[in-house]
Amino acid sequence: MAKQSQKRRARRRRRFILVYSVFFGLLMASLIFLFQLLCSGTNANPEQSASRKEASREETVSERKSEDGTSSSGFPEGWKLLSLPEAARTEGNLVLVNASHSIDAAKAQTVSVYEHKTRSYLVKDVYLSVTPETMHALNDWMDAFAKETGITDINIVSGWRSFADQTAIYDNAVATRGQAHADAYIALPGHSEHHTALAVDLDTYNVGTGTSGGFDGNGAYAWVVQHAWEYGFIQRYPIQKSDVTGIDFESWHFRYVGLPHAYVMQTENLCLEEYIDFLRNYPFSGEHLFVTCLGVRYELYFCAGDQVAVPTTGSYTISGNNLDGFIVTVEKP
Ligand code: DAL
Ligand code: ZN
Repeated sequence: MAKQSQKRRARRRRRFILVYSVFFGLLMASLIFLFQLLCSGTNANPEQSASRKEASREETVSERKSEDGTSSSGFPEGWKLLSLPEAARTEGNLVLVNASHSIDAAKAQTVSVYEHKTRSYLVKDVYLSVTPETMHALNDWMDAFAKETGITDINIVSGWRSFADQTAIYDNAVATRGQAHADAYIALPGHSEHHTALAVDLDTYNVGTGTSGGFDGNGAYAWVVQHAWEYGFIQRYPIQKSDVTGIDFESWHFRYVGLPHAYVMQTENLCLEEYIDFLRNYPFSGEHLFVTCLGVRYELYFCAGDQVAVPTTGSYTISGNNLDGFIVTVEKP
């Protein structure tokens, strides 16, 4: 009897151990499964993680901040902050100059068009000057036009103007054409974008007869207007924007803003006043504007005030808007 009860106890112990083992095994398996499930929600798969980073590279900086982390100062990695003097707001290819926003003509850096021009066009006199970057772009633009059409009679009749130059032009317009005409076509001294040395006036000149033909941008010259953006120029006072620019249509006045800005303005049908406003939609802390133009990819954003964020590596330019901040143009590799 005692032997039988011992055997029963041993059987019960084996059954208990078996049930306990199965239960413990199931519990462990569930825990392991749960742990793997939680891990797959983070970066368990390095390939997945890399492709997510790749996909987000062209998204906003705020998104990139969370992907790449921030520096110890709280600023996004790969970016640094520059403190620019307030005067820098009046410098750069995107400065807005109009009846509401003046500029100091004396600050412009210029080179002589006569000394640097190619043979594809003419220039009024040896004193006419523009910024070095405008000079380079003007040569490329006129060379391309001459190559396309064989025409080489475009005459550059105005570039940089001093305050005194603009005063003389304005006073002469009032005296000879009347106040209304002067106000429609001539900026007040201090308010002309010719003070920036980024603007040029085009004319045509017949060497044989010694006469000027004006520049209306029609016929063969339509090419010059249509292709201006490719060289960074815009027709600054378009016919349909005179209520915004405050100036009547000037077929002859072109302003250098550079690429990709001339391209965006052309495709979005924005004059410079509108473009400066449009760029405020892309602050550094928000979504940036990505543009591919003539095979180059650009990243654009606006920095209000004097603190300007720029990438720590790579190529970029900064332009003041002559109002309230800076536009950064980053050339992507
Ligand atoms: N004609 C342009 C508006 C100027 O005077 O600057
Ligand atoms: Zn002009």
